[in-house]
Amino acid sequence: MPEQKTLTEMACEVLCTADGREKTALSRRYAERWREARAAGAPIPVGTANPPLRPARPEKPELLDPRDVPRRRPGSPQGQAAILHAVAHIELNAVDLHWDIIARFGHVPMPMGFYDDWVKSADEEAKHFNLICDCLEARDSHYGALPAHAGMWRAAEDTAEDLMGRLAVVPMVLEARGLDVTPGMIEIFRKAGDKQTVAALDVIYAEEVHHVAYGSKWFHFLCGREDRDPVTVFHDLVRRYFHGPLKPPFNEEKRAEAGLPPDFYWPLADRSGTV
Ligand SMILES: [Fe+2]
Ligand SMILES: [Fe+2]
Repeated sequence: MPEQKTLTEMACEVLCTADGREKTALSRRYAERWREARAAGAPIPVGTANPPLRPARPEKPELLDPRDVPRRRPGSPQGQAAILHAVAHIELNAVDLHWDIIARFGHVPMPMGFYDDWVKSADEEAKHFNLICDCLEARDSHYGALPAHAGMWRAAEDTAEDLMGRLAVVPMVLEARGLDVTPGMIEIFRKAGDKQTVAALDVIYAEEVHHVAYGSKWFHFLCGREDRDPVTVFHDLVRRYFHGPLKPPFNEEKRAEAGLPPDFYWPLADRSGTV
């Protein structure tokens, strides 16, 4: 029998796979392997690994400074394709972020449920990438056809040595932001009569609430283990690792559902646009 791979080794393999569709196929396959082993009562060992500082990525899209990424006009088909392309880029990055939290912090003792949650999230992000790529391909485009944002991995690098910082910035700031902006995006595609994209974004919107909730759950767990105040710790970490204020309007209802109450995010908000 071949030697069983550890979970962190599987995570590194996903991170080191460059092609988007191959990366997501591997992400889904390893998530299934993890789930089956858990269900059989014979969990795969977590192990420890040395993940790459940056994940492997395909040659295309070209990665540009956000200021140089062409602006999108959502009313036009080109603008809608550009939005889909940007979402695909975010989803591919999210696949890597969830495997990276598993691979990078294998040395921090955590309950098995922590790995269950991030494996499930990585599986869902892989599904999201595939769904959005299908929508792009239905419009005769594809992931890689347009340039994309180069700064996506910065949050991961900044928090490479700080698990609480990673939880604060990635699920509780960046993925929570996704909850704020997705309803508006769904509206754009509903108006355009693109049912396939509306259905894909509905799936993403529903599942992303859980990713934020997992972040909040494990952030609170770590604060509790160290007997620290979660709100104060969250504010300190976001100020340290996240560059700039949080942008309202916030989706307070979905944030609440995900275990993120207003005292976490309002004190960090840019209130210049609000009365
Ligand atoms: Fe996603
Ligand atoms: Fe997510």
